Amino acid sequence: MSSINSVASFNAHKESPTYVTQPYLPPLSEFIPYLAEIWESKILTNGGPFHQQLEKALCEYLGVPHISLFANGTLALVTALQALRITGEVITTPYSFVATAHSLLWNGIKPVFVDIDRTTMNMDAKKIEEAITAQTTAIMSVHCYGRPCDVDAIQKIADNYNLRVIYDAAHAFGVSDAGGSLLRHGDLSILSFHATKVFNTFEGGAIISPDAKTKMRIDHLKNFGFVDETSVVAAGINGKMSEINAAFGMLQLKHIHLAISRRREIDALYRSLLAHVEGIHCLENIEGSITNCSYFPILVKPKCLVSRDDLYRHLKKYNIFARRYFYPLISEFSMYRGFPSARRENLPVATEVANQVLCLPIYPDMSDELVVSVASVINDCIRDASSTVQNVA
Ligand SMILES: Cc1ncc(COP(=O)(O)O)c(C=O)c1O
Repeated sequence: MSSINSVASFNAHKESPTYVTQPYLPPLSEFIPYLAEIWESKILTNGGPFHQQLEKALCEYLGVPHISLFANGTLALVTALQALRITGEVITTPYSFVATAHSLLWNGIKPVFVDIDRTTMNMDAKKIEEAITAQTTAIMSVHCYGRPCDVDAIQKIADNYNLRVIYDAAHAFGVSDAGGSLLRHGDLSILSFHATKVFNTFEGGAIISPDAKTKMRIDHLKNFGFVDETSVVAAGINGKMSEINAAFGMLQLKHIHLAISRRREIDALYRSLLAHVEGIHCLENIEGSITNCSYFPILVKPKCLVSRDDLYRHLKKYNIFARRYFYPLISEFSMYRGFPSARRENLPVATEVANQVLCLPIYPDMSDELVVSVASVINDCIRDASSTVQNVA
């Protein structure tokens, strides 16, 4: 790509910003009949018809036995911990969105951070055992960017130490491994259907349960603990998904296949365009997994002539808003910094990756032309830095 191309792309795109993602929205006309049904029934929430339809449809689409819909993924995480009566300490990753660890603090649980693995970007299973204490009751791991954790190793440790496993699968909608849905692993998995996610219901989330009894407990917990008109069996919360969100989910499901296919095309295009850019590393897919291409993270390695932050700022000048997911690490925020496991020496890989990562824009409506523009701005930025170095030398 030449600088002239970069300037052209800048001129073409400076008026309209390119964000790291753009929510997928089916044509509005397709949503109107769903709204008409809600207006007709006057059932707006509390497990109405669309809520029931979406639970059933998602079980089929995802290949999971039981699902409980939630108002968002954070409430699903908080409730999953309640459902399994988790207390004490929970082993988790610092390399995630803050909601992962916040859900522990909301339950009065102490997070214990473990470093991540350089290949998966997820908790390094080899480091878990040394973090277990007499207070440890569970492991909360994240399938970061929808990349599968080392589920077998984690389950083995959990079995040996009698720990529960909760997967924050907020990024892993529709991801599978050799044995089927990634969501089948652990005691519970949670999903987020936030606007930025592969499958969105504006706001929304879910818990995947392995059996009907666990689902029933979760369904009580998300509805204040009510089991019938007059009985409350637990200090539950209001985590219910509304009919509007559930109806939108039904419509989204009709388009999800195309939306994910387009993400895969964009992922492949970025990979080909960035393959030979010095110092830029695209994460390889994890063998045996079918990914949803929810994010396109690159690592800006030390040998790159431009730092990650300079590249991030340079893209901004072109109205391209890449994001440094996940920088800062959760363990760097003030409410976590004081925990012994939050020390940087304990988290060398996560600290390094957080300083190198940049998530590039990826969303179903992104044109090939725009993908080429983003790649060419990156390419030119690095090439210009290289010629400056040569001129100085
Ligand atoms: C890894 C992770 N966990 C949890 C959440 C929280 O989900 P929600 O925004 O639906 O509450 C998010 C993102 O939004 C996330 O990225």
